Amino acid sequence: MDQQEPTASLSLFPHAAGVNATGHLTIGGCDAVSLAAQYGTPLYVLDEATLRSRCSEYRREFSQRYPDSLVIYACKAFINPALALLLREEGLGLDVVSAGEISIAKAAAFPPDRVYFHGNNKSHDELSFALDWKIGRMVIDNFRELDLLAALVKRNGSVQDVLLRVSPGIDPHTHQYIATGVLDSKFGFPLTTGQAGEALAKAMATPGLNVVGLHFHLGSSIFEVQPYAEAIDLVLRFAAEMKQKHGFRLRELNVGGGFGVQYQLDSSPPPTAAYAQVIASSVIGLCPSLGLASPRLVVEPGRAIVAQAGVALYRVGAAKDVPGIRRYVFVDGGMGDNIRPALYGSRYEAVAAGKMNQPAAQPVTIAGKFCESGDILIKDIPLPVLEGDDIIAVPVSGAYSLPMASNYNASLRPAIVMVSDGRARLIRRRETHEDLTRYDLS
Ligand code: LLP
Repeated sequence: MDQQEPTASLSLFPHAAGVNATGHLTIGGCDAVSLAAQYGTPLYVLDEATLRSRCSEYRREFSQRYPDSLVIYACKAFINPALALLLREEGLGLDVVSAGEISIAKAAAFPPDRVYFHGNNKSHDELSFALDWKIGRMVIDNFRELDLLAALVKRNGSVQDVLLRVSPGIDPHTHQYIATGVLDSKFGFPLTTGQAGEALAKAMATPGLNVVGLHFHLGSSIFEVQPYAEAIDLVLRFAAEMKQKHGFRLRELNVGGGFGVQYQLDSSPPPTAAYAQVIASSVIGLCPSLGLASPRLVVEPGRAIVAQAGVALYRVGAAKDVPGIRRYVFVDGGMGDNIRPALYGSRYEAVAAGKMNQPAAQPVTIAGKFCESGDILIKDIPLPVLEGDDIIAVPVSGAYSLPMASNYNASLRPAIVMVSDGRARLIRRRETHEDLTRYDLS
């Protein structure tokens, strides 16, 4: 396929995105307009090469600075069996937060020893399901979970490796809905209240629980590296104190995820290397002075692995002009497949996939088809003049769109194709009307 010079906005798209001789956007060598015609819209396209390169970038950037490191992918950003298989091939582990996510990992024959079970309200059944699968690590979030787990390992006569999730009380300066490591958070044992120390002593004294280390997660979409350094400092100091008091050996330190990705042309997060540098150097720098042996380092990116690999394709339908105010252009998806703009005020860029060489006209507002005034995907974006049936492509759509999708208005959740070297394969079919009543009984 003939590729022309990529436009600036292509920098947000998957690595091999381009524009072909007909002026259409290409993703992984596939014409986006043809993909939309073949598979229907809304369609989510995942570029395999971008996914693999993000996995290896994360592994490389951390392991070259800190050889004893493990990258685990946070499934909540998006998971299905095809992606789990790819992650397994790339040597990543998984962060799961429900028996459902575990069942997807199982479906992909993911090695359980590389799976970490997070969550603030794991049920008895979920814990038991995870134990039966011989999951690598349980990450204990609260006292009730500690008790439930203690009873389960006693009943099974098994020994489970666990981490304790602590809340370091650090503000990562992100949207308040996705800040998790602050004191007033539902997650983890706070360091400052003494509860983390109490929980650690209790876990260490519990037969069948092997406390290998500590976990924290500051939040998501963190555009600064300093909060990681501050949190590592506090958590390592806590580990040193616990070593003195209880003989605790920190063998593993899991610093969570939260690494920012670029959604817009004018706002870019630090590169992966910058996060890796501050995290690795903080651990390397502090451990000897605190009398701690170097722990294994675990990081758990979600968004940073999948966001850029994903592109959402929508078809334009009607439009509405409000004279003197704005022009709305309606697409066939919206808050049902991507709630992020409505929920967090997240901002996205977009292109007209069939009009890549046409100049931008007056800004338009891309609105979805859901019965909510707040169903606006992108406000005031300059795009070429749009007509019905044009295809809009929204880059950086691979993370937290489909996992938070709903059937609002009895809409059908989209299909997903994986593209690579000019070929596309369906990795999730579009829902059907039969799916909508599948669980209902009359
Ligand atoms: N580890 C833990 C314990 C987490 O809770 C999360 C995300 C991650 C890792 C991965 O964070 P990431 O690297 O993807 O930032 N729905 C929100 C994001 C919620 C994130 C929840 N936890 C959004 O659409 O922005």
